[in-house]
Amino acid sequence: MMITYNNLENSFCVCFVFVGLFIFYNWTINYQGVDGTNNRYPVMKMAPKSIEKNKKVTKISSNPNSNAIIIPYRQRFDHLQKLIPHLFNFLNNKSTHPDLNFKIFVIEQSEKMIFNRAMLLNIGYLLAKKEESEFNCFTFHDVDMLPIESSYSSSSSCNYNCPLSNKIAYHLAEKKSNLNFTKEYEHYFGGISILTDFQMMKIGGNPNRFFGWGGEDDVLRIRLTNRGFTIKNQENCKINVLEHSRDAGNNLQWIEKIEKTKNND
Ligand code: UDP
Ligand code: BGC
Repeated sequence: MMITYNNLENSFCVCFVFVGLFIFYNWTINYQGVDGTNNRYPVMKMAPKSIEKNKKVTKISSNPNSNAIIIPYRQRFDHLQKLIPHLFNFLNNKSTHPDLNFKIFVIEQSEKMIFNRAMLLNIGYLLAKKEESEFNCFTFHDVDMLPIESSYSSSSSCNYNCPLSNKIAYHLAEKKSNLNFTKEYEHYFGGISILTDFQMMKIGGNPNRFFGWGGEDDVLRIRLTNRGFTIKNQENCKINVLEHSRDAGNNLQWIEKIEKTKNND
């Protein structure tokens, strides 16, 4: 499934995207807002693939602060319905993100295969690049992570603006509620990260071979640092992590995969 929302056109689009198989259809979705209010999100039908193919995409030369937010997703609807309105409010706050353009892409994997977070992120990245507006950066965003608004500062402590330099990538999920807002480990790069398009192209994206839990975010970090990019940890950003159990069918055999897939898939 892919759901998109953006603050440019004031429209929503929901379509289903399974890995390797694209099915488009109308969908209407009701979200219960975190504040208990009900929001009904209109849905836009996607053109069939053949039409998409022939469609000439004229890129709207856009704001350099245009961020495609990509959420890998499967069977966590309770999380999704909390995250979408939360992010929408968070990113539309003009005092913290005054000139940010964003669009949210939810990429859903079918039920049959072992979950592959990194591949979904790559699919989202490629789909975002086919959009009419041009994105300068891409946020890889877990569905269970809600940024917490700073209560003492007008500038947000979780900064979703595109990095000002192609040399720097951001990591936002440094302090998580499930760990009492302490650091996971020194080089943790999971949860929420922001990369520029230039960086994604230089490193060849996320590693596609990581079926199952863990490791793919470590490889993404290694790919960035191997190419000389710097990771800026947003030390003041706090994240509220929603509870979940680990999904069945995933495995932990990722350590050897890290060595094998540092740079080459
Ligand atoms: N995810 C999902 N369904 C799954 C497994 C993972 O939607 O069955 C997505 C979701 O965005 C989640 C992210 O992948 O936040 C990372 O997975 P998980 O939360 O299980 O890993 P953890 O953060 O607990 O290490
Ligand atoms: C895994 C990462 C994961 C992290 C936090 C690490 O051991 O390699 O993929 O994000 O733990 O759970």
